[in-house]
Amino acid sequence: MELPNRVTIIEVGPRDGLQNERLLVETSNKIQFIQKLKAAGIQEMELTSFVSPKWVPQMSDAKEVISHCLDERRNFVLTPNRKGVERLYESACKNAAVFVAVSDSFNKKNINKTTSESLSELEPLIADLKRKGYFVRACISTAFYCPYEGKMDENKVLSLCRTFEDFGVDELSVADTIGMANPHEAYELFSLLKHHLRSTTLLAAHFHDTRGMALANVFACLEAGVDRFDSSAGGLGGCPFAPGATGNVATEDVVYMLHQMGIQTGIQLDQLIEAVDVIAPHVSRPIESKQYRLAKKTQTLNS
Ligand code: HMG
Ligand code: MG
Repeated sequence: MELPNRVTIIEVGPRDGLQNERLLVETSNKIQFIQKLKAAGIQEMELTSFVSPKWVPQMSDAKEVISHCLDERRNFVLTPNRKGVERLYESACKNAAVFVAVSDSFNKKNINKTTSESLSELEPLIADLKRKGYFVRACISTAFYCPYEGKMDENKVLSLCRTFEDFGVDELSVADTIGMANPHEAYELFSLLKHHLRSTTLLAAHFHDTRGMALANVFACLEAGVDRFDSSAGGLGGCPFAPGATGNVATEDVVYMLHQMGIQTGIQLDQLIEAVDVIAPHVSRPIESKQYRLAKKTQTLNS
């Protein structure tokens, strides 16, 4: 298949990147990070989550982050349940991201419900969000492997995606939560989804880079016709309830690869590196993306 000329990056660093961070990042640093990412040209971003502060204290400042960071771009807030949607309605954010796992065991660990219990709760909520004119994305976790149940059946993934299409979502973000997929599996699953889902449903791929496969998986998905990718500046990320999973594929590595291949993103790589500079001193992990490390090395050599 011919590769796309342009790709949309959905930046998930402020949400996926920071939800699993050992250090509690100050709200003002999160806001500065988000502003720098926007200055670099990011048009779509998961800002934060409306989840229980007891379960994920890192996202307990969601209201404040949103109040400083909304603009005309597509800014998402994650919301897993009724309480989350109620909090969304109290905010000015108009883009919701619900999340559910293919596997019951992971859904239970993450949201304290089985997958079908989550679907029953979400169906009327999504209908209401759509009636009110919200954009809704559904994030599908454990689409390849579950840390508790192993390999997932791709027909089960397709069936869950179709259920969300029937609920009326605008977008599906299909995730390799624990970073176990290989490029062959990525190509197969996304080809299946591209073939069977409605052409009007946006489809994004979300890769964690636990085993160093994420960039190769992005390329495999390009070949399957995918033109939307979730990624995290600095390669930060991970889910507190997915043992062993590390960060998302780094936005700067994806952007570099795409630009070198002649695929446009609208993102300035040098400014993206500056955004990572803003957050790097406030997180406990070293930034391991190739592009960030190269930029730092070049700066040191030139100074
Ligand atoms: P629960 O304990 O079953 O909730 O947790 P509950 O309904 O029994 O309520 C208990 C208390 O929590 C109540 O407060 C509720 O009001 C409150 P109390 O009366 O005790 O004071 N509560 C909430 N507070 C704020 N916001 C809410 C909310 N809901 C209930 N939305 C719950 C269920 C879903 C809340 C909990 O399990 C939770 O917060 N889970 C979030 C897990 C999470 O954030 N995971 C990471 C995001 S998903 C991800 O990273 C994967 C993704 O990146 C894709 C991939 O890579 O796979 C998207
Ligand atoms: Mg994730």
